[in-house]
Amino acid sequence: MPRDYSARLVFNECIAEDIVELCFELTEAEPWGSAPNPARGPSPLDPFYKKIKRVQGACSLPGFGAEPQGPNPGQFAHLAAPGVFLRRPVSIAGFRQDENIVRFIVGIAGEGTRNLAAKRPGETIKILLPLGNPFPSIPSGRNIWLVSGGLGVAPLLYLAKTLSGTARELRAFMGFSDERSVFGVEEMRELSEMTLDVGGFITDKVSGALASARPDAVFSCGPLPMMGALKKICAARGVPLYVSLEERMGCGVGACLVCACAARGAAGYKRVCRDGPVFDAEEVVIS
Ligand SMILES: Cc1cc2nc3c(=O)[nH]c(=O)nc-3n(C[C@H](O)[C@H](O)[C@H](O)COP(=O)(O)OP(=O)(O)OC[C@H]3O[C@@H](n4cnc5c(N)ncnc54)[C@H](O)[C@@H]3O)c2cc1C
Ligand code: FES
Repeated sequence: MPRDYSARLVFNECIAEDIVELCFELTEAEPWGSAPNPARGPSPLDPFYKKIKRVQGACSLPGFGAEPQGPNPGQFAHLAAPGVFLRRPVSIAGFRQDENIVRFIVGIAGEGTRNLAAKRPGETIKILLPLGNPFPSIPSGRNIWLVSGGLGVAPLLYLAKTLSGTARELRAFMGFSDERSVFGVEEMRELSEMTLDVGGFITDKVSGALASARPDAVFSCGPLPMMGALKKICAARGVPLYVSLEERMGCGVGACLVCACAARGAAGYKRVCRDGPVFDAEEVVIS
């Protein structure tokens, strides 16, 4: 259930070129869209989110006043990056319930992520979470494959951690464009049987592995061309595939349609923030 947290940065480390791991301790939670706290002064974001709250109607605000709950793998957070107007969506890469610490892996893409990466331990920002739908829960004892490309490994590290104790076989295929952008490999290797590809096509490795094995489900996050190729490979062999999509976002909660992606069905589109970001690959157009 989403809540708007004051989050104190407790860890900031560069883990690859232009990629940082950030861990925040979630402290106080405000009801989302509430009046600005006079102690921190009015934020330029507050009018925007209050407007969305009015558009949505109070009854559709999920989790308002509910108990805080740990996020599930595949869900994301909306981070109030300094210096930019809109919040930035980032996948949840880990969560420690005992200490209320949430982990993100952030690639520096522009001003918002650069300013997030420049934050120092002890500084606070606002974080709205958890948002979106997680990867579907799978009964224990199944064979699960995880396929990631680049920063797409971030949510799959969290997923691997939750599946490692329950899956019969957990295999991870990790693709990176070059050596400088490689991260998370040792962590993933400890959790799964891991295959790494640098500079090639990780989908070739998946295709090869499917010649002699058949997983119960494949979960994927990464660049669209990679997931598009994976969709064809999985469809050809009748393997269920779930993908986590990324689109530019405005509100992050289903009100503005900035994040619409092409999909099957009458509407012809889905909102990545509210209907996803995790979809059955058959539901959406990946190109
Ligand atoms: C559900 C979701 C989960 C995400 N998880 C992660 C994550 O775990 N780690 C991570 O590093 N990034 C993640 N992203 C992408 C991240 O939100 C963008 O990189 C970030 O918003 C860029 O903000 P900026 O101000 O730094 O760059 P901007 O100046 O806003 O943009 C810089 C460049 O990045 C591109 N870009 C911006 N937003 C997106 C987007 N949403 N998708 C694709 N390209 C974009 C722009 O087109 C532009 O070329 C996620 C996005 C979504 C929607
Ligand atoms: S970002 Fe506003 S509807 Fe998805």
